[in-house]
Amino acid sequence: MTTQLTVNGAPVETDAPGMRRLLDLLREDLGLTGTKEGCGEGECGACTVLLDGAPVLSCLVPVCQAAGTDIRTVEALAPAAGRLNVLQQAFLETGGAQCGICTPGMLMAGEAFLASGAQPTDEAIREAIAGNLCRCTGY
Ligand code: FES
Ligand code: FES
Repeated sequence: MTTQLTVNGAPVETDAPGMRRLLDLLREDLGLTGTKEGCGEGECGACTVLLDGAPVLSCLVPVCQAAGTDIRTVEALAPAAGRLNVLQQAFLETGGAQCGICTPGMLMAGEAFLASGAQPTDEAIREAIAGNLCRCTGY
């Protein structure tokens, strides 16, 4: 069965099995390797992408559940080639990434938080990225 969805603004049609992970569709079938796999079991947040604007763990989302949705990955954040969006720029300037595995997930969770219009207090930010673990800083 063919599944249709939108990825980073482009229509995508796939014959992937319905239970294939969205993470694998993005990384392996579409070559969007910006989204990372950490734990593969919904614990780390490295695979976070936006599904209709909401952050989801793409390692837990089957392709069939993404049918008809609008997916955004970290590749869609930059406003133009060679440029960074405000969050990416802030990560760069403040040394917000070490190995970088958690970074795309952090950025997408942060993007959803900023888009929500919530007040970015320290507490609200901590809560917004509570599901995103950084192993480098954590250790
Ligand atoms: Fe999806 Fe860790 S890889 S939550
Ligand atoms: Fe390495 Fe976060 S920068 S896991």
